[in-house]
Amino acid sequence: MDREVVIIGAGGHAKVVADIILKSGDKLIGFLDDRACGSDFCGFPVMGKVEAYTDFRDKMFVIAIGSAQVREKIAEELKAVHWYTAIHPSAVISELDVTIDEGTVIMASAVVNPGARIGRHCIINTGAIIEHDNQIRDYAHISVGAKLAGTVIIGSHTWIGAGAAVNNNISVCSNCIIGTGSVVIRNIEEEGTYAGVPARRIK
Ligand SMILES: CC(C)(COP(=O)(O)OP(=O)(O)OC[C@H]1O[C@@H](n2cnc3c(N)ncnc32)[C@H](O)[C@@H]1OP(=O)(O)O)[C@@H](O)C(=O)NCCC(=O)NCCS
Repeated sequence: MDREVVIIGAGGHAKVVADIILKSGDKLIGFLDDRACGSDFCGFPVMGKVEAYTDFRDKMFVIAIGSAQVREKIAEELKAVHWYTAIHPSAVISELDVTIDEGTVIMASAVVNPGARIGRHCIINTGAIIEHDNQIRDYAHISVGAKLAGTVIIGSHTWIGAGAAVNNNISVCSNCIIGTGSVVIRNIEEEGTYAGVPARRIK
């Protein structure tokens, strides 16, 4: 049966999530966004502010907002809703021992290999590679084209930038940003922003 979905957020990332819902054969009801009420967004209505979610109790919800902190705040505010896990039909998800928790978005051409664990409300962006036995903790974002080799652990709220790579068996702690194109070759145990080849702490 088609699922009926409301997207929280009406920005660029939300457009891509909308496309996944439609490509999956599910029904997009519209968007809720605190800043863009009363307008249309890519042909679907923006039906009100986020607090209006109670009017759509029988629908499913997905949060399409880039900031991990905002995603977490909204996930905690919306009580007793059914979260939609958005997986683009072209994503390659192994059937061997993979778990993907509620509210996570997996975009086109992403690969998730055996033994991977992906937490709730994560973003696995276009073309990202999540190799075998990776653990991606809640609210993490693996950006477009990023590559995580085998048995990598990414802490909650950590953002791996576009095209970055992480060596096998490496852990990156919570609340980090890894810059575009960076290569992580050592464990990262302190929160902060890291960039370069090899990645070093810049902030
Ligand atoms: C890492 C990042 C967050 C830093 O942004 P910032 O905090 O604004 O930092 P700045 O641009 O002031 O750069 C600080 C220093 O780090 C360097 N730096 C920034 N990003 C870098 C990168 N990706 N690789 C190498 N060096 C980088 C800058 O050259 C600068 O060096 P300097 O002080 O010697 O001049 C940002 O560059 C980045 O990579 N964001 C990720 C974007 C992304 O992946 N989007 C994907 C969406 S799907």
